[in-house]
Amino acid sequence: MATLTINCRFPGDGRLGRNDGEPLVLRMHDKCHSSSKDKLTVEHLDLVHRTGHRRFWVLRGVVTGPLDSVDSILKLDMTGASHCDDLLKEAEVYIGKARSLQGDYLPQFYGCFQAEVNLTTVTCLALEYCGEPVSQSLRDMNRGFKQELIYAVLALHAKGMTHGDLQHSNILVYPDGGEDHPVLIDFDLADTSHICAINFKIVSGAVGPEVEEYGCEEMHELIYWLGYWRLPTIGFGSTLFRKDEINDLDDLIDVLPSYLDDERRQELVEQAALLLEEILRERRLTYGTETISQGQRRLDYLEPKAA
Ligand SMILES: Nc1ncnc2c1ncn2[C@@H]1O[C@H](COP(=O)(O)OP(=O)(O)OP(=O)(O)O)[C@@H](O)[C@H]1O
Ligand SMILES: [Mg+2]
Ligand SMILES: [Zn+2]
Repeated sequence: MATLTINCRFPGDGRLGRNDGEPLVLRMHDKCHSSSKDKLTVEHLDLVHRTGHRRFWVLRGVVTGPLDSVDSILKLDMTGASHCDDLLKEAEVYIGKARSLQGDYLPQFYGCFQAEVNLTTVTCLALEYCGEPVSQSLRDMNRGFKQELIYAVLALHAKGMTHGDLQHSNILVYPDGGEDHPVLIDFDLADTSHICAINFKIVSGAVGPEVEEYGCEEMHELIYWLGYWRLPTIGFGSTLFRKDEINDLDDLIDVLPSYLDDERRQELVEQAALLLEEILRERRLTYGTETISQGQRRLDYLEPKAA
């Protein structure tokens, strides 16, 4: 039976009940289906994240096994109930549908461990430390990072699951070889019965399809979030237009009210001319209708394509 021995105090918290100097020995959870008999230990832990009043901690420390020592994250729960279930669900993702993505788009998973402390179940997920969360707007990340993030989420979808909670704190920046790579974490809201039906190329700068047309809500939202697509509508004056219904200047200026004085009217006509130019430029960047090869690193699905 594999074990994880925590041989140190928990940072800043006396309530775990192990401040008596005794190491806390957790055993690999049955659900992990791991044949590992490794004895892992950790000697020092720093607090990374803590949520409100819940008895849940994210800690960082070096976990030592028989062969090596690795910079690791421990997600540790003492609620014994709700969050513990979340951790078990997350463990199932790491060892289930997303197993082959570990070490690439997901951290390596070292196991899910449990122990009884003062009649409460302590549950602990051990993961590879993979960097800090994205700290700037995703739109401002470099092109390579954004493309890899799309591949990462596509890869999950190709395995039949969504992430379910894509936000900055769940997207890590992993520096490697002078470049930053995205790593996805936090899978307790993943939908593991996702059938991905995307059927459009992701062409940067083009007007994006509606979500129903695109076939996948999470990918659709992500691509807009990254700034790859432009919105299908545009505001002019006090009217919201569908871009695909605008073909010439009259389509825009027809809605201008008749009471405008000449100067104001001329100003708005000039604005309309610029908008029209922009709409026609976007239209030349079309998105195709081929079925995307999900989860494969296919750059051609991300490159702008002039019609
Ligand atoms: N593998 C990891 N490598 C580096 N940092 C991590 C890792 N896992 C978690 N963290 C850090 O801990 C934070 C919280 O982790 P995570 O998102 O997995 O927990 P959570 O269940 O979402 O917590 P909460 O419910 O409070 O949001 C992350 O935003 C990140 O800063
Ligand atoms: Mg999170
Ligand atoms: Zn999908």
